[in-house]
Amino acid sequence: MAVSEPLVLGIESTCDETGVALVRGRELLADVTASSMDEHARFGGIVPEVASRAHLEALRPTITAALDAAGVTLADVDAVAVASGPGLVGSLTVGTAGAKALALGLGVPLYGVNHVIGHAAVDELVHGPFPERFLALVVSGGHSSLLLVNDVATDVVELGQTLDDAAGEAFDKVGRLLGLPYPGGPHVDRLARQGDPAAIAFPRGLSKGRELARHPYDFSFSGLKTAVARYLEGRADAGEEYSPADVAASFSEAVADVLVTKTLRACAEHDVRTLVIGGGFSANSRLRELAAERCAAAGVEVRIPPIRYCTDNGAMIAALGSALVRAGVAPSPLDLAVDSSMALSLVSVPA
Ligand code: KG4
Ligand code: ZN
Repeated sequence: MAVSEPLVLGIESTCDETGVALVRGRELLADVTASSMDEHARFGGIVPEVASRAHLEALRPTITAALDAAGVTLADVDAVAVASGPGLVGSLTVGTAGAKALALGLGVPLYGVNHVIGHAAVDELVHGPFPERFLALVVSGGHSSLLLVNDVATDVVELGQTLDDAAGEAFDKVGRLLGLPYPGGPHVDRLARQGDPAAIAFPRGLSKGRELARHPYDFSFSGLKTAVARYLEGRADAGEEYSPADVAASFSEAVADVLVTKTLRACAEHDVRTLVIGGGFSANSRLRELAAERCAAAGVEVRIPPIRYCTDNGAMIAALGSALVRAGVAPSPLDLAVDSSMALSLVSVPA
């Protein structure tokens, strides 16, 4: 690492995590996260107003903690990056206002960056420089996106996304149907490991015929969730016993199968040999197994950062900021607007 490489401070506040990190080049110096998840759990979902207020309270202490952990001061910071979309508008506004104040006060450039692309960018801090081209599958409670990344700082193409529920969201809904605590994803995953993935033939959305032709790389999980609900209703109406573990395993199999099948088809079509998987849903054990197995067979290298860098964090934003600085991309204007549905073709807010 050259000492001359700029020190980038990254701020993440798109949902319920307040994350602040410091990155120099591709080296992560500190990464601190505060989460308001405990305040939302009793509501069974994220409450945007509660999340915004929590960001307001957490932002300054989290910045201080990150600077202390990195052993630097604000005066050492060369650029500020902030996730300016997509996400909850109130939450984005708090982080972005803080980032603008820092950039203005320090007289350093500000980059408003795309949170979803950050989920891919963070892998460079873990597994080293990216190859010339790669695919990124970003899966969480809020997103399920398949991206062709020609250059993480300048050229990202969205191949597909979910048309309805995100993968983690579908797991959380099925968790609720099975009477599991919120967020249900990890609980469904644990239960699935004790069941038979072939027990119930749940549907694979957008995977056949005309639907596949029209949406080769898009996902749809709401039909699958409805199929699980119908299955459970059917058993209840008939007074029949069922195995919750088999339901969880068959459901998990359907989600992982569709994600991996479509991703590998995109790798073949675009002649890509590297896949980066990011987002909190990358913790899913069946997705990991199936991706490892089928990618190895197809000669595709899979890169998945450790889970703390897959859930929302500041390191992913600082990593993307650092890539933008390295690529010589012009900073964003100080009066940039947050964008709750920021397009995935936009890596950062243009000057
Ligand atoms: O990235 P993340 O922490 O938050 C955002 O959604 O942005 O992802 C959390 C989502 C939740 O829906 C959670 O239930 C799901 O990912 N999740 C899982 C697992 N771990 C987390 N879903 C299935 N299996 C898991 N092991
Ligand atoms: Zn995210």
